[in-house]
Amino acid sequence: MSLTGKHVLSSDLFDREELERLFVLADLLTPVARGRKATRVLEGAVMASLFFEASTRTRLSCESAFLRLGGGVVNSTGPEIMSIAKGESYADTSRVVSGYCDLLVVRHPEETAVHEFAAATNVPVINGGNGAGEHPTQALLDMYTLHREFARTGRGLDNRRIALVGDLRYGRTVHSLMKLITLYENLTIVCVSPAHLGMPAALLESAERRGHRIELSDSPQTALKDADLVYATRLQTERFAGQPTPYSDEFRIDKALVSRVCRDDTVIMHPLPRNSRPGSNDLAADLNSDPRLAIFRQTDAGIPIRMALFVSVLGAAEAVPDSLRRVAWYRPEYTGPDDAPFYRNTAG
Ligand code: NCD
Repeated sequence: MSLTGKHVLSSDLFDREELERLFVLADLLTPVARGRKATRVLEGAVMASLFFEASTRTRLSCESAFLRLGGGVVNSTGPEIMSIAKGESYADTSRVVSGYCDLLVVRHPEETAVHEFAAATNVPVINGGNGAGEHPTQALLDMYTLHREFARTGRGLDNRRIALVGDLRYGRTVHSLMKLITLYENLTIVCVSPAHLGMPAALLESAERRGHRIELSDSPQTALKDADLVYATRLQTERFAGQPTPYSDEFRIDKALVSRVCRDDTVIMHPLPRNSRPGSNDLAADLNSDPRLAIFRQTDAGIPIRMALFVSVLGAAEAVPDSLRRVAWYRPEYTGPDDAPFYRNTAG
């Protein structure tokens, strides 16, 4: 399968082989992501990022990835500053912007909007998050992170116990992640959520059809035991019509819980942002110095894997190896003060 020219609207697009090809390409591009090497492989290409919803990581990492590939970026954020506020359709907006760029990244609160954007253009549209639907590039970075974290501790992705925790109903990152992780073999997937925030039935059924075991739980205290991965998520407050009931204390993933129930090699991830307001009971900051917490390695992984996706969609993957050059400028050896043990002896 070739990704060249494809819209990336759902994780359904990828099979295991394609995913692993992207991991290899991301490894190759990691020195570029870390400012050790440079490439101009997408010189002359322009990406447009259209974000109709709040974003920190997805927009900035897509833009940074495209810039580090030598491309240029134009962007617009929020419907109020675009002509959509004057009644322009998504189709017209998409066709117009496509004439200005070679790839679009679109985030929109309505699930169908990215599909309307894609239907109106031959320029590849990447879904940067569509309402409570999907977030395929987040799932790529989550899988890439997990692959690296497990590899570091001598594990592969097959035969694992995976706990997905929190708002599994409205959390689009876990929807896309379910589709990618179930490309692997023989998993036990524990969906841990308050009863009204469960994983959509269609995703559970398709995981079972692929031969995985599904367990449902509303208690992190018991469900996180023996997990290889704990993937926590924020309550998607913006998707509720009224005021959502906050997570109970039980859903606070903190040092006390992790030291009581998790193994020494459990990987703890979260797509971020985590809600740090008092009473939110999200992933707690007291885990920050725990080496099992992979959240910043996860955000870092967003650059090389998105670079890998962009060069693939633009048909330039084969030109990457010969395009890599040394850089002449300063960049600290490790981005975060605690990074060294995880990045030693790895690419870049
Ligand atoms: C997520 C999103 O926007 O879906 N953020 C992200 O892109 N990393 C998760 C969230 O907002 O909870």
